Amino acid sequence: MEKKALNWSELGFSYRKTDFRFSAIHSDGKWSDGELVESEIIPVHEGAPALHYAQQCFEGLKAQTAPDGRVLLFRPDLNSERMKQAAGRLLMPEVPRELFLRGVEEAVRANYAWIPPHGSGASLYIRPMLIGVGENLGLRPARQFEFRVFVSPVGPYYSSNGMAVISLAVSELDRAAPHGTGNYKVGANYAGGLLATREAQAQGANEALFLDAAERRYIDEAGSANIVIAMTGNRFVTPRSDAVLPSVTRRSLMVLAEDRLQLKTETRPIDLRAELQDFEEVAACGTAAVLSPVGRIWFDNAWHSFHDEGRSVGPVMQELYDLLVGIQRGELDDPYGWTHEVSL
Ligand SMILES: Cc1ncc(COP(=O)(O)O)c(C=O)c1O
Repeated sequence: MEKKALNWSELGFSYRKTDFRFSAIHSDGKWSDGELVESEIIPVHEGAPALHYAQQCFEGLKAQTAPDGRVLLFRPDLNSERMKQAAGRLLMPEVPRELFLRGVEEAVRANYAWIPPHGSGASLYIRPMLIGVGENLGLRPARQFEFRVFVSPVGPYYSSNGMAVISLAVSELDRAAPHGTGNYKVGANYAGGLLATREAQAQGANEALFLDAAERRYIDEAGSANIVIAMTGNRFVTPRSDAVLPSVTRRSLMVLAEDRLQLKTETRPIDLRAELQDFEEVAACGTAAVLSPVGRIWFDNAWHSFHDEGRSVGPVMQELYDLLVGIQRGELDDPYGWTHEVSL
């Protein structure tokens, strides 16, 4: 099948309408089989709990084309599992693993012409979502739900060439409360973060960095990415926090850091001010951010920079990026069985 005539390597991270999306409806206690639909518009009741009370959750993953033309997903089981957790937290019906994977695969397959070719640096971003729909007024769970999967070809989140060195500004605002919903991928966490991102950008940073809401002391995460830090003594550390999203990318990087780079990995609270002098390289990681080195962080009225004064990518993050992306794109062996081929 022919590919669309797009300038793949020039794509940014934005929505582009593709031909099909997958939709399944839950009502009277059961899921419909689901089907591909053409319209990108969802007709939704004005009282829908997704609109008023943020009864909704979503996921994000990518499909990439391997050198031999296979189309690969990266650990989609973890996205399916994470969506189940979010559904349970918000009193929504679980999307069974079979339905989740079928929805993702059908949406990818039906939009084959939109999957960026190998070597373009672009990928097909996949956005599964679960929303509470139907007539409602009072604060109660919806009686109907839609599971929908749309896709869009995307380029890099932060820049158009390889690994961009970014900067973060510690936010005065909190993203998530200690026993709230910070560890679930639910829309409610993100609306409150928009202002934090805007303020960080006004400070000259790319993104906000959130500290723990209880003490404002420990690193939580960035607006749309987890944080990993290469520290003195061959350590590779990531925050342990009940309020951060369990990032698929971060969990994978921790394995690679330990197995391939022989670093000592630790998942524990990281006290920003007390441990700063031990930071060698800092990075933000996620499906969209991939692994973006953080050159400097703004807090306490000053910039604090890392490797090479924040000018270039450090060796640890470069090596991890090459390994991660190599596996995701099917260029390197995948001893962990992380890639999942979509049959075409
Ligand atoms: C708040 C937040 N943290 C972290 C991540 C990274 O998670 P993942 O690696 O599963 O994409 C995301 C999504 O990309 C996110 O929205």
